[in-house]
Amino acid sequence: MIRVGVIGLGPIGNRHARLYKADPLAELVGVCDILHDRADAAAAEYGVPAFYSVPEMLQALSPDVCSVATGGHEYGSDHYEPTMQALQAGCHVLGEKPISNEIDKAEEMVACAREMGVCYGIDLNHRFTPAAEMAKKWQNEGRLGHLLFCNMSMWIMNPRETSPWFQIKALHPHTVDVMRHFCGDVEAVQCFATKAPGRKIWSTAHFSMRFRNGVVGGLTGSYDIERGHPMERCEVAGTKGRFVIDDMWREATLYPAGDLEKRVYTNPVFGGMRDFEDTFRNRIHRFLEQVSEGCPPEEVDGSGADGLAAQKVLQAAIDSLQNETVVYIQ
Ligand SMILES: NC(=O)c1ccc[n+]([C@@H]2O[C@H](COP(=O)([O-])OP(=O)(O)OC[C@H]3O[C@@H](n4cnc5c(N)ncnc54)[C@H](O)[C@@H]3O)[C@@H](O)[C@H]2O)c1
Repeated sequence: MIRVGVIGLGPIGNRHARLYKADPLAELVGVCDILHDRADAAAAEYGVPAFYSVPEMLQALSPDVCSVATGGHEYGSDHYEPTMQALQAGCHVLGEKPISNEIDKAEEMVACAREMGVCYGIDLNHRFTPAAEMAKKWQNEGRLGHLLFCNMSMWIMNPRETSPWFQIKALHPHTVDVMRHFCGDVEAVQCFATKAPGRKIWSTAHFSMRFRNGVVGGLTGSYDIERGHPMERCEVAGTKGRFVIDDMWREATLYPAGDLEKRVYTNPVFGGMRDFEDTFRNRIHRFLEQVSEGCPPEEVDGSGADGLAAQKVLQAAIDSLQNETVVYIQ
C-alpha cells in the first residue's frame, strides 16, 4: 500500500483525495491546506488527519507519495514550495499542471526530483485514456508510417482575467503534452492570439509548430466557449495513415491511407470511461502503479520533465506573441 498525502484541498485536491481513497494501490493518510476550513472539511470527509503546514504533515506522516494540487497565480505559482518540500523529504510527487508558471522554478523542481531519485509526475491526465492508448498502439505498430502533421484543438469556458497569459499557460500544458506524446519534442513555435468581446486576456490562441523530427503541427485553443459539445480533438497523420481522437476518450478513428475501411475504437457502455473524472482516476492509478513497481524516475509517464518541456513551448509561444516572431526552443 502506498501511503499518500494530498496538499491543496480546492476542488482538484479533493478530487485527488477521493480517487486515492478509491484506488486499491493507495492509502490516503493525510490532507493539508493552509486554509484551515478546507483542510478540516477534507479531513472529515475522508477520515484522515488535517494539517495546515506541509513540513508538519511530512514530519508527522512520512508519506510515500504527495499530490500537490495547489494553484495560485496563473494556476501554477503555489506549486513550487510544497513540491520542493515534499521532494526534499524523499516523497514521490504527483503535481498539478502547469508544473509552474515560471520556467526557472520548474527547472529547479525537476532537478530536485532527479537529485533525490524520486518519481515526479504531472497530472497531464488528458492522454491517460484507452482511446489515446489505442492511438499510440496504432502508431507503434507503424500504421501511420512516416509522421507528417498534427492538428490539436481544445476549447472550454474560463472567465478568469488574472493574467494576459492565463489561457496559454494554464490550458495548454494538456494539449502540448498530447502533441508531444505522439510527435516528440517541439523545436519552434509561432503564436497568434485574440480576445473574445469583453475580455482583457489572450483568451483564444493558435500556435504553429515544428517538431524536432520534422513533423509540422497546429494547435488552437480557447477559454471562450461554453462546455457542452465536444471540446478536444487530436489528429495525427503520416504517410500510411491518420488517426483522430475525439474528446480524449470517446472515440479514436484510424484512417489507413489508400484503404476506404476505417478502424474505430468507441468508448464502451459497459466498463468504459464515464466522465472527465476518470481521466484523473487513470492518471493517478498509473502513477501509483509506476511508484509501486519501482519505476526508474526518468521513465515516469507524464513526468515533471514532460511538464517542463510543455511549459517551455508555451513560454516560447508567449515570446512569439509579444514579438511577432518564430521562437526556437533550446
Ligand atoms: N488536470 C486537470 O485537468 C486540471 C483541471 C483543473 C485544474 N487543474 C489544476 O489544479 C490545481 C488546483 O486547482 P483548484 O481549482 O483546486 O485550486 P484552488 O485555488 O481552489 O485550491 C488550491 C488550494 O491550495 C492551497 N494551498 C496553496 N498553497 C499551499 C501550501 N503551501 N500548502 C498547503 N496548501 C496550499 C490553497 O489554500 C487552496 O485551498 C491548479 O494548478 C489547476 O491548474 C487541473
